[in-house]
Amino acid sequence: MEIPFFLITILLLLSISATAAAPSKPGVSNDLVRSSCVHASYPSLCFRTLSSYSGPADTPRDLAQAAVKVSLSRARKVSTYLTTRVTGKSKRERVALSDCVDQISDSMDELSKTLQELKHLRGETFGFQMSNAQTWVSAALTNEDTCLDGFEGVDGNVKSDVKRKITNVAKVTSNALYMINRLNESRGRHR
Ligand SMILES: *[C@@H]1O[C@H](CO)[C@@H](O)[C@H](O)[C@H]1NC(C)=O
Repeated sequence: MEIPFFLITILLLLSISATAAAPSKPGVSNDLVRSSCVHASYPSLCFRTLSSYSGPADTPRDLAQAAVKVSLSRARKVSTYLTTRVTGKSKRERVALSDCVDQISDSMDELSKTLQELKHLRGETFGFQMSNAQTWVSAALTNEDTCLDGFEGVDGNVKSDVKRKITNVAKVTSNALYMINRLNESRGRHR
């Protein structure tokens, strides 16, 4: 008996969609994460944050998006933390904290814009979009560094906590910038 062609087609489509829908477990894409993180500014942080990322991480583009999302979510957490600590300190510390709130807020805007750009990449505008992404993530990083600088010479027990958290955000942002550069470089190979 001959199997109807449409049946074969359906079976084929089903098996393809089953493969595509398979949960992307850490391990499936760990090789790409590992090889992509090796030369990141903070390789082990890069590997830790991206291998535990729950979304797709199978292409340089996935990884760049994932890295920006991680950075954005950490910035958001720090922002919440900062806004609960603005009151009741020395004048200088209050000023540094409230400046920091603004800087992290700007940083979050820049990271959101970057994420939108990465979600809507198009062949004919790729170079321009990559340049935007690079500019915005660099600006986000600068804002985070400026926040840290604001605490120079400020005494207070909030300071070390804030510094530690912001430093962590700056590190994941720096890794995100690296992933964007990698995506840009991979263009010819993955399009
Ligand atoms: C992207 O790659 C191209 C070609 O390698 C390069 O000319 C361009 O400056 C890069 N853009 C960014 C934003 O890194």
